[in-house]
This record gives sequence, C-alpha cells and structure tokens, in this order.
Amino acid sequence: MCGIIGYKGGKKSSAILLEGIKNLEYRGYDSVGIATIYDGKIELKKDVGRVDEVNKKLNFLELNGFIGIGHTRWSTHGKPSKENAHPHISNDYSIAVVHNGIIENYNELRKELENEGFKFKSETDTEVIPLLIEKYNKKNDFEKAVIKALRRLEGSFAVIIINKDIDKLIAARRFSPLMLGVGKDEFFIASDSTAFIKHTNDIVFMEDDEMVIIDDGFKIVNITDNKIIDKKIEHNRINYYSAEKGNYRHFMLKEIHEQPRVVENTINYFIKNNSLLHNYKNFNRILIVACGTSYYAGLIGKFLIESIVRIPVEVDYSSEFRYKDPIINNTDLVIAISQSGETADTIAAAKEAKNKKAKLIAICNVFGSSLTRMADTTLYTQAGTEIGVASTKAFTSQLAVLYLFSLHLAKINKLMNEKEINKKIKLMKKLPLQMKKILSNNKIKEISEKNFLSNNSVFLGRGVNYPVALEGALKLKEISYIHAEGSPAAELKHGHIALIEKDMPVVVIAVKDKTYYKIKSNIEEIKSRGGKIISIVNEEDEEIENISDEVIEVPETDLLLYPFLTVIPMQLIAYYTGLCRNCDIDKPRNLAKSVTVE
Ligand code: G6P
Repeated sequence: MCGIIGYKGGKKSSAILLEGIKNLEYRGYDSVGIATIYDGKIELKKDVGRVDEVNKKLNFLELNGFIGIGHTRWSTHGKPSKENAHPHISNDYSIAVVHNGIIENYNELRKELENEGFKFKSETDTEVIPLLIEKYNKKNDFEKAVIKALRRLEGSFAVIIINKDIDKLIAARRFSPLMLGVGKDEFFIASDSTAFIKHTNDIVFMEDDEMVIIDDGFKIVNITDNKIIDKKIEHNRINYYSAEKGNYRHFMLKEIHEQPRVVENTINYFIKNNSLLHNYKNFNRILIVACGTSYYAGLIGKFLIESIVRIPVEVDYSSEFRYKDPIINNTDLVIAISQSGETADTIAAAKEAKNKKAKLIAICNVFGSSLTRMADTTLYTQAGTEIGVASTKAFTSQLAVLYLFSLHLAKINKLMNEKEINKKIKLMKKLPLQMKKILSNNKIKEISEKNFLSNNSVFLGRGVNYPVALEGALKLKEISYIHAEGSPAAELKHGHIALIEKDMPVVVIAVKDKTYYKIKSNIEEIKSRGGKIISIVNEEDEEIENISDEVIEVPETDLLLYPFLTVIPMQLIAYYTGLCRNCDIDKPRNLAKSVTVE
C-alpha cells in the first residue's frame, strides 16, 4: 500500500513532506523516510516506526533543500526495517526513489543487476528501480533513462524520483494512484490529494503509464510511446476536512460521532442533486462489488434494492469477482462501492465490468480517485475525509446513498408514488437524531469493558441486520484483536454454537421485525450454553431484556433503515473494547486504510 509524496517549490521541502506523509499515514505505517536534494547531494533519513516516532528520533526538519520525496510504508516485500524503508538510493548515491505498488518481476531484475555488479542493501522489490535507472543513466538523458527503466517493470507502481544532479521531480504510475497538485510556483505529487490539499485544490490526475516531469512547470508523457499528453487541471470540489481529532481521543471515535451529520449531508446532497441518479432506469440485474466494510454495505444494498425495487442483486467480493469470469453484459448495472476509490481489487473488478460493457456506478468518498475516473457516474458519499483505518462514517453514508438510489429506482419504475417516497424520506430524515440518541448512551462503554474479556465472540443478526452482524464482528477483530464471528442468527445451530462457552459474549440484533420471535429462541439457545447475551433491541423491549445479560436500545424506524442505527452500538463496542485492551485504535496492526495492492 504505502503513501508517497514529492515536492518542488520555494518552501523548505522537508516541512511539506513531513506534513504530507503524516496525512498519508493511513496508507501504511510501519516505517517512514524522506530524501531531499541539497548542495548537489541527496540527504536522507529513514527508519522503522510511525511518522511522529521516527521524526522525534531523526528530526526530518534537519533535511534542507527545496525538492524532495517522502514515503510511509506498509510492507509487502521485506520486513519493516531501516534498510527496507524508502526512499531507496542508487549505488552511486545520485538517485532516490519512493514507490507504492509491487514489482512482480523484481527477482529477475535483481539477478540481472547483481550479475552486472550492482549491490542491493534491502530485501524490497523497489530497490531494483533506482539501480535500473542508474544502469541506464549513462548518456546524460535522465528522462530517457527513467522511461527505459520503467518499461522494464511488471506489476504496479506509483514512483517519484529525484536525481542530485537535476533540479526536477519525475513521477509515473501504472495501476497505483498518483496525482499532481499545482500550486503557485510549487508542485506536489502524491498518492492522494489529502497529502497536499491544504496547499492547493488544483489537481492533475495521472493515468496509467503517464510520467510527469516537474521543473518550473510540468510536462506529462506516455512512457509506452513517448507522446506528450495535454492534461487538464481539475478543481477539487470536496471539502478538506482537517486531520485534527478535536476533543476526541481517536479519529475513530470522532468519525463515529460524525455520522448523524454525515448521513444528513448525504440525504440533503442527493435530494438537492437528484439529477445525478437520472441516467439509471431499466436493468435486468444489478451486481455490487466491494471489499471489507464497503462489501457489507453492499450486502445491505442488496436487501434494500431487492425489497424496494424487486430487481435481482448479486454481491461479490471484488477480489473474487474478477477471477470468476463473471457473467455480465450491457443490460447489467454494476455498482462498485469504495470509500477510497483506490482499492486495487475493486478497481480491477470495475475494469472487468466495463470490459464486458456493463454500466458502472461508483459509490465513493474520494473526489477524482481511480474508481471514479472509470465509472459512468459517481455517487459521492458526503462523509468527508475518513482517517481511522476502520471504516465507520463512510459505511453509513454508503447506506444512505444505496437507500436513496433504491427509492429513485422505485420511483422511475413506478413501484412507489411520490407520497410513499416522501414518507420514506421523512423517516430517513429522522435518522440523524435517532443516531445521536444512541451515541449518547454511556452504558455502551461500560458494557464493552465488562463483557468483552473472552478471546472469542459471536455477532448475530437476520435479514437486513445480518450484514450489520458481520460488520460488528469485523470491527471488533480489527480494533481489539478479539476473534469474532458474524453469522445469520438461524445459522448458529449449524456451527457457531460449538464455540459458545461460559461468559463468551454474543451480540444479537433483535429489533422488532418478522424474525423477532425466532431470534428470541436463538437467544435462549445461547443462554442455556452459558454465553453472555448483549442484545440490540427496540426501546422498552422487556421480553428480550429479561433473557439478556445486557441490552442496548435503538429507536424504532422503517425495517430497512435499522442498519443505520444497529451498527452504532457495534462500532462503539469495538472502540471501547479496543481502548480497554490498549490497542492502537486508529492504526490497528497489519492493516491499512487503502489496500492498493491485490
Ligand atoms: C481496508 C480498510 C477497510 C475498508 C476496506 C475497503 O481493508 O481497512 O476499512 O473497508 O479496505 O476499502 P474501500 O476504500 O474500498 O472502501
């Protein structure tokens, strides 16, 4: 995954790069490094650890110069270590490179370079890049040498390159995100615009096989045919949300609490801009592709669309979809859901859908991200920047888009009249206040601290709340490292029940829907085997309260809208349990927010 940034301008580059890698840290956080050019030499500092930790030790601001590159790493090849941290340097110490992606033929290239006498210091796939450039940089034409080296690479890359003898930044991409920020007499290049959006809103989105050469201006060429490409500068329309925690201890908690506002913003945005939905009318079938939490939003989307519109919906993990030779054609609509718009598997799945001529809608939170650039239409969730690695507010805003989209399809297919739709929207508009009520329930903290002491747990739900149970289990695993299984409540007896032992926490979503009494029986089954039952119930539901160890109440709403409410206790349980176990809430081990490798 990794985050990369480059800067060239009139300011001290190390300060800009340090700020930039801090904003990119969500992409990986096992090691960091910065290299600048000063006085005809490359200055470099790098080490293992989080940005703040390493900066405290090395003081990146000691690096001088007006041009430089920075990197924050999520290791793929080679363990987190100082040697494996980026930037990587050529043997003659003239070229430094930061890279995001995977060079799939690095073994073969490494052998070739070693045979020619080049020395490797790291175990990374990246190090072949500066050495290959050094090998080709014999004729005083650095740009040509870079192109020659890049053409040898197989796999995915976004790279930024500096050379001590040349006052230029060079960067290129293939299958990994990269964007150029154009400021006043200064340029930024990074994996994601959050790295520089504080300085400029004017962005050039780089496409695959494009290379940018930045000196006093910029020039973009295609590395496969050397053709110069004229690209337009786009103005970012999404608000920059500051990466500040405010009064909250963690971004995750802040983002959980932002959900009422985010859902309200998303509803208002689409009601105001409902023309965004108008292109989409008649489809025989809808396919949803996504990963992680976005995939669970997709599972809920299936319930919403099938219940409201009666069009069959299939949901696939993006990573599975593309390799199964999916049966799709131009009468299908594919919806790709992704907070970041940069998840490699989701982008690949979307490409597959486009190749097979399906219409593609992206539901995405990041303006101009790779996914939005290939979609026929993007429905932007109005969640604002999400920093916590575990997704929360992006999830509920995705649900809001899916619900509004379902209502839109119901309207144009004449399945609901204006009055019925308005009734649904009215109920939807009540959600923010109802969410606030759940967020103010102080009991959830206490329940989490008291009950999640075992190393295993189970989350159960049915119907539209079954994916919420899956999301609850995922959140707990990610944040507290407690093993958690999510399951449809009735499936319990076919396996998960074997796990239940004394005091094992079992979270059950038991709101009043048509399976209420069935779930009540499931609770009895768990209780008789010693499990601790934490039920998510409607207000004043004594029947379930009497057979549960703990209850968390949620207000009444339309049956299809419950996930907006039932997911909040799940998020808070994960947060407070993780907190109690001293876990690194915003940067859980081994995870990254944006998974840009397959
Ligand atoms: C990673 C993140 C998750 C996220 C998933 C999909 O695993 O840690 O929080 O749900 O990627 O990301 P996307 O940006 O495509 O929604």
